[in-house]
Amino acid sequence: MFTTRTLRVIAVAALALGLAGAAAAQQFEIKRHLKIDNPARLKPSESLSIYQSIADELSRGYAASKDKTAMNYRKWRLFNTAPYHSLTHGNRYVNNYANEKSYGKPGAVMPPGTVIAKDSFTVTADSAIFGGALFIMEKLAPGASPETGDWRYAMIMPDGSFFGDSTGANPGQVKFCHGCHKAKADDDYLYFLPEAYRVKFLGN
Ligand code: HEC
Repeated sequence: MFTTRTLRVIAVAALALGLAGAAAAQQFEIKRHLKIDNPARLKPSESLSIYQSIADELSRGYAASKDKTAMNYRKWRLFNTAPYHSLTHGNRYVNNYANEKSYGKPGAVMPPGTVIAKDSFTVTADSAIFGGALFIMEKLAPGASPETGDWRYAMIMPDGSFFGDSTGANPGQVKFCHGCHKAKADDDYLYFLPEAYRVKFLGN
């Protein structure tokens, strides 16, 4: 599904899985984004510690796109306690940030301007770490995009290139996003993150 463009990836060479932390980040280049056949299963403490060691680097990569969300999402509220595994977003570990006080509630319709950003990474069973895409949903003005429930969907690669943007480059590439999210039409097309990982605070 990915192009042959060279992607920046992040490897953590000296990572002892099972011993959370002690991650020494190192970089190298690969030709293709690998399909990860042997993903590691991480405990929340492990996924959190790996994420903390790569998050700055990861967000700098996305920010090269000059997309407003890619440049700002790390300043927003994080809605999960640790990165969790998401089969539906490429078998990756993901986070959910949102620019609103609440990320939404089942049955509610989010106001225009709401943005939810999901950064991601993969860890293989042999401890290699790969930056994954940034997944974006942005609520547009009423009627702006009836075919996507007035959501903009975008996917930005770790090197800052757009894989697709429903309101910009390669819109056809991200059609599959709404193809799946439309099943949640009654909840404004939102799936919400797994209960066990939700941050508990007033309004969430
Ligand atoms: C096969 C189904 C599927 C596809 C395809 C899919 N998603 Fe999702 N999406 C989900 C599920 C399930 C969740 C909630 C669990 C999670 O975070 O993995 C979610 C959550 C999200 C969220 C957080 C808001 C919410 O719904 O809770 C964003 C943002 C998001 N997806 C963006 C995208 C984008 C952008 C694409 C396309 C590049 C995409 N998704 C493709 C199923 C899908």
